Amino acid sequence: MDTILIRGGVPLQGTVQISGAKNATLPLMAACLLTSQPIVLKGVPQLADINTLADLLSELGVTILKSNDSNETSSMTLCARSVNHTKAPYDLVRKMRASILVLGPLLARFGEAIVSLPGGCAIGSRPVDIHLSGLESLGARIKLKDGYIRANAPNGLIGAHYRLNTPSVGATENLLMAAVLADGNTTLENAAREPEINDLIRCLCNMGANIKGLGTSCLQIYGQTKLHGTTHSVMADRIEAGTYAIASAITGGSVELKGAQLAHLEAPMKLLGNAGVECTQTEHGIRVESTKYLKSVDVITQPYPGFPTDLQAQTMVLMSLADKTAIFREKVFENRFMHVPELARMGANIKLYDGNAIVNGVKELKGAQVMATDLRASSCLILAGLAAKGSTKVSRVYHLDRGYEKIEKKLALLGANIERISTA
Ligand code: UD1
Repeated sequence: MDTILIRGGVPLQGTVQISGAKNATLPLMAACLLTSQPIVLKGVPQLADINTLADLLSELGVTILKSNDSNETSSMTLCARSVNHTKAPYDLVRKMRASILVLGPLLARFGEAIVSLPGGCAIGSRPVDIHLSGLESLGARIKLKDGYIRANAPNGLIGAHYRLNTPSVGATENLLMAAVLADGNTTLENAAREPEINDLIRCLCNMGANIKGLGTSCLQIYGQTKLHGTTHSVMADRIEAGTYAIASAITGGSVELKGAQLAHLEAPMKLLGNAGVECTQTEHGIRVESTKYLKSVDVITQPYPGFPTDLQAQTMVLMSLADKTAIFREKVFENRFMHVPELARMGANIKLYDGNAIVNGVKELKGAQVMATDLRASSCLILAGLAAKGSTKVSRVYHLDRGYEKIEKKLALLGANIERISTA
């Protein structure tokens, strides 16, 4: 298993290219199941999670062609002309919860789907009840048997009015992909508004879908009998951009995030501004500059446009080095504080109390041997290592490879002293 070794203390300088968004690419890939014609995705990041979904789609009979474009980004052509069956097996689904995104499109196009329940996850119980009750409202019959979701709609799905009790990102995406081929009109109320959902809506509309309400929590979907192929460029990864912004801030550096979109990062950029970090729009992205003096700012994670839970762990490292006390409230996923004991091993002063994390700033973090527990917790430990005095060794970095394209190479290009040690 690989580890990453960091010798901290170097202010990051330069430009980093932000990759295509993982969380946008996954639903876009699943959307290929809605048509027999090819879908071409441009700017697909090279990540373990993308490979996991590609394996699942291939197993269903989707043909997938990957190619490297001249400017080092990748394209993927997916064609679901000859889908062999509609069962997503446990062995593939258990690797990644987002595999459940095949449920809506399979059901909509083929009238049936059998998808393994994704199971528990390190960052909370993460149920799928909203995905299932939403599909039931569109006329699907759903049974849970032997760890599988068995969904049927032999005469097709029927448009309906459905209100999500929580604005779940995955459920909104699944229901959108189901409703675009339903008979009649669907209204989704209290839908999630994440930019990745807008990216999916744009692609679906280019495939012939008719969806109104882009960017709002009320989506109107006018069902079509058929969709067609298209070419779509994946949006930039706002969580990767936010992570590099914090890397720049925490090292007292100056980094341009090429391709990052300020409009997708309003809450994190406002927080960085309040912490004393300067973030400005440039011709090609966002520049983040800071001195090492950081002000403590409280964080409450919320669905978009609130502060993203996927940047909570990284922001906690930043606040570990700020002047006073910052209180973190995690309102999206319970139990998403597993990075706290690891940060404490590096000298951070963080106490968990009543579901909140109370972060008292310290003068410095010290290098240590630490272990990654999930994707965003892994990047938080890398950031801590960049800021810490001495050497930090992060193990279990396979979590990082699920969501950060070439992270050690990108950081090394910004001047970080970082290397991957392969032990396989
Ligand atoms: C997506 C993102 C993930 C991010 C999360 C929140 C992808 C591939 N992953 O995950 O990186 O952290 O959004 O921004 O895009 N819930 C239910 N019932 C359901 C579904 C969700 O109660 O059926 C709850 C969850 O337990 C959680 C909240 O809703 O508390 C939000 O989860 P959701 O938005 O669904 O997250 P994901 O789509 O899994």
